[in-house]
Order: sequence, then structure tokens, then C-alpha cells
Amino acid sequence: MYRSHSCGELRASDINKEITLSGWVQKTRDKGFMIWVDLRDRYGITQLIFDEQRTPKDVVEKAKTLGREFVIQVTGTVIERESKNKNIPTGEIEILVSKLTILNEALVPPFTIEDETDGGEDIRMKYRYLDIRRNPVKNSLMFRHQVAMKVRNYLSQEDFIEIETPYLIKSTPEGARDFVVPSRMNEGQFYALPQSPQTFKQLLMVGGMDKYFQIVKCFRDEDLRADRQPEFTQIDCEMAFVEQEDILTIFEGLTRHLLRDIKNVEIADFPRMTYAEAMKTYGNDKPDIRFGMKFGELNNVAQHKEFNVFNQAELVVGIAVPGGASYTRKEIDKLIDWVKRPQVGALGMVYVKCNEDGTFKSSVDKFYDQEDLANWAKATGAKAGDLICVLSGQTNKVRAQLSALRMELAERLGLRNPEEFAPLWVVDFPLLEWDEETERYHAMHHPFTSPKPEDIALLDSKPGDVRANAYDLVLNGNEIGGGSIRIHDKETQALMFDHLGFTPEEAKAQFGFLMDAFQYGAPPHGGIAFGFDRLVAILGGQETIRDYIAFPKNNSGRDVMIDAPANIDQEQLKELNIKLDL
Ligand code: AMO
Repeated sequence: MYRSHSCGELRASDINKEITLSGWVQKTRDKGFMIWVDLRDRYGITQLIFDEQRTPKDVVEKAKTLGREFVIQVTGTVIERESKNKNIPTGEIEILVSKLTILNEALVPPFTIEDETDGGEDIRMKYRYLDIRRNPVKNSLMFRHQVAMKVRNYLSQEDFIEIETPYLIKSTPEGARDFVVPSRMNEGQFYALPQSPQTFKQLLMVGGMDKYFQIVKCFRDEDLRADRQPEFTQIDCEMAFVEQEDILTIFEGLTRHLLRDIKNVEIADFPRMTYAEAMKTYGNDKPDIRFGMKFGELNNVAQHKEFNVFNQAELVVGIAVPGGASYTRKEIDKLIDWVKRPQVGALGMVYVKCNEDGTFKSSVDKFYDQEDLANWAKATGAKAGDLICVLSGQTNKVRAQLSALRMELAERLGLRNPEEFAPLWVVDFPLLEWDEETERYHAMHHPFTSPKPEDIALLDSKPGDVRANAYDLVLNGNEIGGGSIRIHDKETQALMFDHLGFTPEEAKAQFGFLMDAFQYGAPPHGGIAFGFDRLVAILGGQETIRDYIAFPKNNSGRDVMIDAPANIDQEQLKELNIKLDL
């Protein structure tokens, strides 16, 4: 038996017990006649004491050889500690050791295994197994497990069943690039790793499995960001015989349940906002509604004066920054520089200080009088003491720029409180999205998303205006989940493929299996997938998902610990009949 207890378990009530512990040496303090060791495992830290008077001599000698992170086993008696440590649960006791076994020695770790480590990101990723020994990482992984259990229990109780779908498949149409896997037995052919189980879960509906879920890995070869990994996990769900409303109800329920159970937060208001409204009011389809600074469109009150920049713009739009009137000229110049950075891309920014005495001072006083500026204040909801920031230009671009500024200012003003949770549904997404590069419409969600029946007539005349029965779950400015009601009849599906520029042959080659299946009695169905890593990170109060993944990839998509991706040897290439022409 390696251990009778864990290192987080023993209390004053265990005093005089004979126990055995195993774990890692966190640190040692050698006072000559007395040696203390902090012994650590997943559950906590227990102090060991080796005392020349009371511990056998050979055990004391061995204790002197212990280094950081040695793996040891000790047997001893639980005794009361002289100087108690109120900061840890085991702080009232220590173990007077009678027997010590060194189970394994350890090299000196390349960074300190403590909550505040001296190791930088790169070194911690290279030695991730050591990083996982640290509380912040360990706790994040345990938190992830807890959330997964709650999700599983909730969905099981709601009659969903977890079904695994294959990883070696044919391309799924989620819009990113596929990772592909060569097939040895089928020369020259490749599997694709799923970007999501989308087509399989729809086939499960045809198979009558009516409520499916899966906590499942998905793979997407796309550029990485703090909230994106090339392999990530979804809580993927699909239901048959449902309308959009049924799906929103169930998954609103799941979201409320998790917030209640994990964060002790009761959500009073779970608003729904159309995509159009979200774009108009927040410039973004994943608005953070924990704070205001809503967009005020100013075309009516700012155009047709002498200021040509605004006259020529498709959209003039502003936000009121609370308390911003007190910013110095230098601070405002810095803000202007910030919006002009290439990542944001604004050409400039007009501002208005709303003075405490009710007057206004703007950067465009030459063109606008006090009455004009009062109208701007009204449109943006600015109060005395606020600063109005105004951008102008092409609608989509300006919205994105002002949205970036809104989020940045909220961050600086401390308005993005990670312990406050404001979920919402964004509904009525457009069915199609114009792609500048290919000069074609793409499915905004995926090609199986059902258009709103009342909008189908617009498919030919105004394809960009057709709305879909598609929805996103947004939490604190992050897209946590997305889904839709699917097309389940052949005619609508054929119409969609046609509008997406697929010839019937191309559609058949790529999705023939699904269209075939739909001829055998496909029920009306729809679903949703939550980004599990994102959900866990946000519940944990963070937006970087890497911290909640045991072995994440870096920003270049590399696993620096195992050094992947890597070359493979000639033999393997030959077997796969792949000739590299490097
Ligand atoms: P979608 O593509 O919106 O929908 O993905 C669902 C959710 O998955 C998360 N997500 C990611 N998380 C981390 N890293 C990534 N690279 C990444 N990409 C997406 C997001 C997103 O909201 N099959 C559909 C769902 C459906 O229609 O039922 C789908 O995959 O949080």
C-alpha cells in the first residue's frame, strides 16, 4: 500500500494515528537537528518532521538527501504542530516520520512549482507535466472535470444520450480548413478529421435517436487566438421534433443550471436580440451586455453640415464613455492612436467632451454648434462628464472598429467583471454571407441551416437579407455556442446548394450520403454546439482557453512538449505512397 491517506486529508482529529503518505517534495527546511518537508499531492500539502531525537538516525540521514520534486513515501504518526498554519487545511498537524522510502529521484525542475512561478509561458508549456503540478493549472483541470460532469448529468436527466461519432471522416462543412489523415489501405485517399460531428448528428436524428449529445473533440485548421485552439471540445447536441424555441429553452436551462450550480449566480434576465439589433447597438454579433456604451447612430444629426468626412460616410456612429470628459488631451490622443492601429483600422476619431456645466467641447467645433453636439449626446445617451467617441466610414468596418474601442474602454474602466454573468441569445442570423475573396455567398452557419420560411422568397432577389433559424449563445462578450434548425426536406436542401454555388453533382459528391438519408424519413430537427473550453474558461473567470486544456498547442499550432507536428520517416511515407517534393 503506497498511502493510507492523501496529503490534503489529515486534521487534528487524526492525531496519534499511524499513517502512510506518498507524494512530491515541495520544499525542505533543514535546521540541523530538525528537518521539515512539505509533501504535496493532488489533494494538498502535509508537513513532515524528521527529528534527531525522535526519528531513527538512518531516516534522518536519508531525509537530508531529499531534493525538490523527489517522489517519496513516508510512514509516521500524526502529531499536533507547534506553530500552526491557518492557511492550509492540514495546518494543525504534522507527521513525525518513522520510515522514509525514496520512490524516485527528480532533476531540479526548470521553474518553481508554486502558485506564482518564475517560469515563463514557453518553458511551462515545454514541461507542461510540471506545470500541471501547480495549483492554478491543476485547479483549472479539476474545474473542467466538474463542469463536464454537470453537463453530462443535466443532459442525461433531460433524456439526451451520449453517442460517439467517428474521427476519421470526410470533410465537414464548418468553414475552416480540415486536418487530413492519409489512408494506407486506400492509396492516395485521405480522411478528414471532423470540424464538428454535424453530419453524423443529423444522421442520428434520421436514425431515431431524437436527443443526442456528445462532449467531443473537434479539429479546425484556422488561425489561433486566445479563444481558439486547433483541437477543441464541443458539447454537441441535436434534437428531433423540435422548433427553435424548444432548443433555446433546453439550453437556456443548461446555462442557468451551470451558473447556479457552479457560480451560485441566478440569472434573472436572459435576453434575446436579433443579429440586426446586435450589430446596430453593439457593432458585434457577440455583445458584452454587462455594461452600456451602446452605439448611437449619428447620420441624421451629423451629416449635411460642412464636415465632409461625415458627409461621405455610410455610417457615423458614436459611444458615450462614462467619465471620459476628464481625459487629458494626451489621453485622448492615445485613444485616437489606438483606433488607428492596423489591428483596428480606423482613419481617425472625432470626440466631444460633455462638460459638467452642460456645454460641449468637440474636436470638430468648426463644423458643429452646441445644439448639434447636444443632439449627438442625446443619440449616444451621453451625460455631463462623458466623452463621446465618434467613428465614420463603411458600415461593417465602422461597427467593428467602434466595437473594438467599446471593449477596450470597458476593459480599461474595469467594466468587464469576470464574476458577473450576462448571457443572451442572438437570433435571426443571416442565412448567407458575402465572401469578398471568392465573390460568392457562403452559408454563414453551415449549408444545412434552415432559412426562415417567410424569407425563402428573397433567396433570388436579395440573398443577403434572408434570415436563418440560427442562433448563438453569447456570454460576457464571447460566442459560447451556435446552432440552427436544419433543413430536412430535399427540395429546400437542393435550393440551398444551388444558392451556395454547388452543382447537383458537387453536392452529391460531398453530401450525397446525407441527402440519401433524408429520403428515408428525416424528422424535423435542430441542434446546437457549445464551445466547452470557452464555457469552462468563462465560468472560471478567464477568456484564455489554453489554461483549461491539459496539453494545449501554442499560437503556431505546435505542441512544444512533444514537438509536434514533426517529420515522419521515409518508410511511413512510402507505405502511404506519399511523395514529398520539398
Ligand atoms: P460552431 O462552428 O459555431 O457550430 O461551433 C460551436 C462552438 O464551438 C466553439 N468553437 C471553438 N472553440 C475553441 N476553438 C475553436 N477553434 C473553436 N471553433 C468553434 C465556439 C462555437 O460557438 N456544428 C455546429 C453546431 C450546430 O449547428 O449544432 C458548429 O460546430 O464556442
